Amino acid sequence: MTARPLPATPTSAFLLPAGIPDRETVNGWTHWRQTRHAFVPAPALTLAEYRMLSPRDRQLHDLHRAATHANLPLQDTPMSTAVARLMRSRLRTNALKHRPTTRPGLMITGGGYQGKTETACEIAAAFEDAWLDLNQQLNPAAVPGSRDLHAPVAYVQTPVTAKPKSTCQAILDFFGADHRKMTLPQLTRAVRQSLHDHGTRVLLLDDITRLKMHRADDQDTLDLIRALMSTNTTLVLIGVNIPGSGLLREGCQDPGTGQWAFPAPARHHHDDPATQTERRFDLVQLDPFAYDTAAHIQAWVDHLTGLEQHLRLLHATPGMLTGGVMPEYLFRRTGGVVGLLERLIEQGCTEALDTGVEALTEALLDTVTISLGNDHGRDPAAGEVPAVPEKPPPRRRSRNTVFDDHGPAAATA
Ligand SMILES: Nc1ncnc2c1ncn2[C@@H]1O[C@H](COP(=O)(O)OP(=O)(O)OP(=O)(O)O)[C@@H](O)[C@H]1O
Ligand SMILES: [Mg+2]
Repeated sequence: MTARPLPATPTSAFLLPAGIPDRETVNGWTHWRQTRHAFVPAPALTLAEYRMLSPRDRQLHDLHRAATHANLPLQDTPMSTAVARLMRSRLRTNALKHRPTTRPGLMITGGGYQGKTETACEIAAAFEDAWLDLNQQLNPAAVPGSRDLHAPVAYVQTPVTAKPKSTCQAILDFFGADHRKMTLPQLTRAVRQSLHDHGTRVLLLDDITRLKMHRADDQDTLDLIRALMSTNTTLVLIGVNIPGSGLLREGCQDPGTGQWAFPAPARHHHDDPATQTERRFDLVQLDPFAYDTAAHIQAWVDHLTGLEQHLRLLHATPGMLTGGVMPEYLFRRTGGVVGLLERLIEQGCTEALDTGVEALTEALLDTVTISLGNDHGRDPAAGEVPAVPEKPPPRRRSRNTVFDDHGPAAATA
């Protein structure tokens, strides 16, 4: 019998990250977009195959497995699919519009860690891939760079204490444009010019709920955002609990379309009169998983099934995450929030590798505390760090009770 050839040692297939791509600049965004699916997971080896590796290859394989658990891919969920469908069609329709009318925007809301940023960035990146491809096919004579720089998508995070000026500056920083010593009207004009010059079709403004609408500055920022809608850019606003944030206070919902309509801002004199139209937004909610109906439970189990396939633990058995009471246990630990599940599983896998347990069990996961404190990219004050469900109390070891004396009362019962 000939032995099955071992999968190639993973050295060539995976590289240590060369710094975290900063999506908030054109170059960083482009780098991320082009490499976002490039990570190659560790090959799935059986225990016997693993044991046949040389000590050095084993060490490399362990490192590659750790990297695999730290780079779990996004999976389609019923909730993300619903957001994707709406966002995809909104971006495409708006991008194909010839008339200079205001493009309806999109607001994506939901709790912290539920995948708003990653879902929106993935859809925007896929849109950009397709858009660039289409431009190349329809207009192959266009020389890249003949326009300053073609940037169909811009991704900007709202600064933690957002004011109109700092929001404009953050947008200009994405394009690497100079904004020193500019007044607000100059900044606004520069932003509109940048969006136009770079052929930007989509502007993602993430963590928009960092704006607290009772502050006068924030009202100005909202006016600014509405002014941006009059460019040829589709505005995608992302935030925790947008309906509760005051951002919609001035708007009213159209019962026919479900869209939120905002009256035109009256006090921006620098706005072109042709742009003084109502601004409209679709509002779409990204919910966590639920565990109340058979369909909801099935969707959760399907998600766990997908997740399980990406884990590289040597004693893992099929159904490790989906069998018995495990789905219910994982739901209890995470409240059905994808980001918390990812953290729990990632930390659980580290523990499973370190201790040599090489499988995820309830007992092992009980030892894992989901910690979000070290995530500096999120603002707790804006609800971006969700409450983590309480950890179960330490288990007592079950005792063999077969030989227990239950006393005379039990014997005569
Ligand atoms: N569909 C998905 N499948 C698997 N993992 C996901 C999915 N969506 C998000 N995640 C993971 O969940 C984590 C949180 O996602 P993300 O940062 O997009 O959440 P968010 O809703 O923007 O949170 P915040 O409000 O704090 O900004 C990320 O590490 C991401 O990889
Ligand atoms: Mg986010």
